[in-house]
Amino acid sequence: MKKSKLSNWKGVAAVIGVDWGDSGKGRLIDNLAQTADVVARFNGGSNTGHTVKNKFGKFALHIIPSGIFNSKSINIVGKNVLVDLESLIDDELQQLKKAKVSWKNLRIDQRATLVMPWHKMRDGQREESRNAKIGTTKRGVGPAYADRIERVGIRVRDLYRKDFKDLLGEEIKIQNKYFSLNLSPSKIYSQFHKYTNLIKPLVTETTSLVKSAIKNKKNVLFEGAQGYFLDVDAGTYPFVTSSNTGIIGIWRCFDVHPTDINYVIGITKAYTTRVGSGPMPTYIKGEQRDWIIKKGGEVGTTSGRIRDPGWLDLVLLKTACENNRVTNIAMTKLDVLSQLKEIKVCIQYKIGNSTTDYISGDADFLSSVKPVYKTLPGWNEDISKARNLTDLPQEARNFIKFVENYTKLPISFIGVGPDRSEVIYA
Ligand code: GDP
Ligand code: IMO
Ligand code: MG
Repeated sequence: MKKSKLSNWKGVAAVIGVDWGDSGKGRLIDNLAQTADVVARFNGGSNTGHTVKNKFGKFALHIIPSGIFNSKSINIVGKNVLVDLESLIDDELQQLKKAKVSWKNLRIDQRATLVMPWHKMRDGQREESRNAKIGTTKRGVGPAYADRIERVGIRVRDLYRKDFKDLLGEEIKIQNKYFSLNLSPSKIYSQFHKYTNLIKPLVTETTSLVKSAIKNKKNVLFEGAQGYFLDVDAGTYPFVTSSNTGIIGIWRCFDVHPTDINYVIGITKAYTTRVGSGPMPTYIKGEQRDWIIKKGGEVGTTSGRIRDPGWLDLVLLKTACENNRVTNIAMTKLDVLSQLKEIKVCIQYKIGNSTTDYISGDADFLSSVKPVYKTLPGWNEDISKARNLTDLPQEARNFIKFVENYTKLPISFIGVGPDRSEVIYA
């Protein structure tokens, strides 16, 4: 097992969720960005909600990378990120402005696809009219990525075309006709005209920025959104998002090959959660469910929905780590498990009498498995002040060791509270 301290990481590092999202990626990126020259986001849109709590305050970021608080690092929104300008300008930049955090080092790829008002409307309408709901965040992510794949999306660079008004008018005509919408071209044009001027100094080509930073031996940190089991190809389809959330997403966004990444950090909570529809074999019911939701504050950053809690699923965790060649695990919210008499972890799946591995790509499969649990003793102590492994109660250390042995990977970052300072670098 390779032990390397993440507190002084160097080279190229990537953070990806190895679950269904909301694992604490924002806070981990905020921690690791202290030594980053470049932080680059590679997937997702404003469906993402990355919470950061540090000396500047508490923030919920959707598009802007969580490294923005390090004034020395360039923060990049890559071409495969969906740029939702309403979220970026009217929400996120306002949060930063209030806290006097500079965004002069923010860069937005000119080839990124824009989320337009009709994408959000279509996302919402389709969800409302379906019986079997995906449970999307209604941020227009599915329809906007669909337009990108269909090659009809409006991109950031289009905002600066001389004929942008005509282009927008033509697209709105199509949207109104085929999706029975009643969009006003003049209203949308004036909204986007305002945005266009505001972000102009930030718009650039970002692939070469990232590649030359790597070539020049800068510290480059990739920020993933969501988690591996929400990946459109690897996750529990159709209850997934519309992008590549795993390591492959970096390749597609920045032309950086996975073998060029020194640290692939797979992040999970010490338990798991899922928001929206779709199966979760280790779903926790009853009083324990309510207790974890309350203690863990399991309410969505973006949609305000309750996140369903489940026990840590080592079958899924190991699969995500193997498929993405994870080198280090980051585990957050260990503090939330304090006071539980017993903690369960899923160590195997059964279908009937046979055991099975995780098979990518289908919700039906995951609905049919039964989890086999190992029960570990819990601990009573408040661990939020722990800063070294030796500060943890023996039972908490045994829990960490059990996961390390199962995954054959080191747990190098342990979150014991949401603040930047509340961490153990192991
Ligand atoms: P992300 O989408 O992966 O960035 O995660 P979210 O921000 O959506 O959700 C994680 C939540 O857990 C946020 O409210 C964080 O402030 C909080 N959090 C992160 N790490 C820890 C931790 O170690 N302990 C506790 N108690 N809360 C944490
Ligand atoms: P972060 O980056 C948790 C879920 C939605 C829904 C499904 C599809 O904060 O971890 P979408 O709006 O993408 O079409 O919704 O994916 N989902 C997330 N769940 N964390 C996220 O992001 C998520 N982004 C999307 O709840 O089930
Ligand atoms: Mg989140």
